[in-house]
Amino acid sequence: MSFSILGTGKAVPEYVLTNDELSTMVETNDEWIRTRTGIEERRICKGETITELCVNAANEALEDAGITADQLDLIICSTMRGENLTPSQGCMIQKEIGATCPAFDVNAACSGFIYALDIADGYFVRKKAKHILIVSMDNLSNITNWKDRSTCVLFGDGGAAAVLGEGDDLLSINITANGNDVVLCIPHGENSSPFYEHESKPALLHMMGNDVYKFAVTAMPNGIRTAVEDAGLQLSDIDLVIPHQANIRIINTAAAKLDIPREKFFCNINHYGNTSSGSVPIALHEASRSGVLKKGDILALCAFGGGLTTGSCVIRWSK
Ligand code: UT7
Repeated sequence: MSFSILGTGKAVPEYVLTNDELSTMVETNDEWIRTRTGIEERRICKGETITELCVNAANEALEDAGITADQLDLIICSTMRGENLTPSQGCMIQKEIGATCPAFDVNAACSGFIYALDIADGYFVRKKAKHILIVSMDNLSNITNWKDRSTCVLFGDGGAAAVLGEGDDLLSINITANGNDVVLCIPHGENSSPFYEHESKPALLHMMGNDVYKFAVTAMPNGIRTAVEDAGLQLSDIDLVIPHQANIRIINTAAAKLDIPREKFFCNINHYGNTSSGSVPIALHEASRSGVLKKGDILALCAFGGGLTTGSCVIRWSK
C-alpha cells in the first residue's frame, strides 16, 4: 500500500513579467524567447513571500482533499531556498497552516516534487503516515542574474501542493543524481566566517544551457521509458505526460523520441516559464482543474534539474 493523490493546490505571484518587458532589461526579444523556449510570460514575486505562496497552495490542496491540517502526519517542502536556512520551509508551512506533524525540506532542484513523492512513498509503505502534504515551491527571481540574458528569460516563481493519502495509485517511481556543479550551480553567497579561506561566490544562478539541454533530451525520454517499464506498462498505456516545463523544445524532442503523441504532453510553460520544483505539480494541478485529467487516467511525471537530478514516476489518477 502506498499513496493516492487526494487533492492539489497552486500558488503563483500576481505580477506577470512579459517577454516584451524583459526586452527592456536585457538584449533579447519576444521572438527569440518564444521560438527557443516556448515561454511568453512568467510570474515574479513582488509583494508575496515564498511562505505566503506555500501556505496558499497548501490550503487549497487540503480543501481539495477534504481534510484539515491537523490530520497531516508529515509535511515535505521541496525548494532550493526557503525563507530561512532554519526553520525549514516545511516548518514555516506547518506553523502557518496550524499542523502539528513533523516537517522538513528536500532540495533536488527541479526534480524536487518527484523526490518528495518518493520519500512520501516510504512513509506510507512503513505505515508511518495516513496523510502527507507536499509543497513544491521555488522563488528563483531572488537568485536570478538579471543581467544574463541566457538565463534570466527562462525562470519564474511559483509552485503547487499535493495532499497524499493511503492508496495504491503509485505504480512506479525512480530518482537519480549525477553530481555536477559545473553545468548548473547556485552558490550560497556570502560567508560570514572570518576564518574561512575560500572566496564566497555570489548567490546567482549560473547555467551552461546547452549542456543542460543535451542532458535533458536524453534524461526525459529515458526517465519516462524506465518508469513505464517498471510499472509493467507500455508507452501506449500512458494517457497524459506531465513533464518538467523547462523548454518546449525539450518536451517536443522527448515526445518524438518516445513516439508518444505530442498532445499527450501537458504544457503550460508559455505562462510560467521554468518554476523549478514547482513546475511539475503546477502542471498536474492545472491538468486536473482544467478537466484534461479523467478518473482512471495513467500519468507519467518526469523532471530533471540541478544536481544533476532526475525523477520520473507513473501514477493512476483516481480523484
Ligand atoms: O530546469 C532545468 C534547467 N535548465 C534547462 O532545462 C535549460 C536547458 N537549455 C535550454 O533550454 C537552452 O539551451 C537555452 C534556452 C538556455 C538556450 O537555447 P539555445 O537554442 O541552446 O541557444 P544558445 O545558447 O545556443 O544561443 C544561441 C544564440 C547565441 O548567440 P550567437 O552566439 O549564436 O550569436 C546566444 O548569445 O542566442 C543568443 N542568446 C540570446 N539571444 C536573444 C542567448 N540568450 C538569448 C536571449 N535573447 N535571451
